[in-house]
Amino acid sequence: MPVTTAPTVEDLRRELSHLRGLDRSEARTMPSAFYTSEAFLDMEKDAVFRAGWVCLGHVGEIPNPGDYFTTELVGEQILVSRDQTGAVQVLSNVCRHRGNLVASGRGNQRSFVCGYHAWTYDLDGALKTAPLMKEVKTFNAKKCGLPQLNCEVWSNFIFVNLDGTAEPLAPQLGKLDAILHNYHNEERNLLFTDEAVWNTNWKNLTENFMEGYHLFATHPKTLQPMTPTQLCRKVPGDAAWTAYRSYYDPNYPPRGPFHKDMTED
Ligand code: FES
Repeated sequence: MPVTTAPTVEDLRRELSHLRGLDRSEARTMPSAFYTSEAFLDMEKDAVFRAGWVCLGHVGEIPNPGDYFTTELVGEQILVSRDQTGAVQVLSNVCRHRGNLVASGRGNQRSFVCGYHAWTYDLDGALKTAPLMKEVKTFNAKKCGLPQLNCEVWSNFIFVNLDGTAEPLAPQLGKLDAILHNYHNEERNLLFTDEAVWNTNWKNLTENFMEGYHLFATHPKTLQPMTPTQLCRKVPGDAAWTAYRSYYDPNYPPRGPFHKDMTED
């Protein structure tokens, strides 16, 4: 029997370059190793989830000063809060003393008190009090705040860049902003959230939201009558984003009210 070895990250990158160079008429599904290789996933964690911008949530989840939620991204524990000035803060949720988690779940707090030795942090991560630490002459509270991670609010969505190396997000999404502008997301409230865990590679989830091809088969009674597959159009994106348009079936009752700036298109 021939011995087959798992493709290396370099093998997969070469394959990806090859696939990207194909003409549309030759398009095909990526090899399964893209979705199963642990080594490739490790590379993606650095290249995509640490070096890039990742959306953590919507500003409507923390509308008031003191509101917060906690989350995790490629093993990093994260605390998202709204401080007293109204600014959104994305902080490390790891206590600077002994690494205990500072907050859990979501809620509203005037400050964050670590449950282990009661070090207390402000909503922006600054260390306010550390019991009994005055006796340590070299202790500098200013250096012991929760690290503020590189964050940006774009179109009311909260993004983080874990390794702090990413270029500012908004300029990268300029063309997308032009498409979304007339929706006026900045005026929209958050009315509903849902959480789902996909027991799969992250790209399966992402790819699902990049196309309307599946609507007629997967959502024949809900999305297909409203925004049929046949009317979906790929939007020419760029390195930072991708999208498709799902046009309404003219026979479907309008779903308004829409913002007055919305056009037929
Ligand atoms: S680990 Fe947080 S106060 Fe000690």
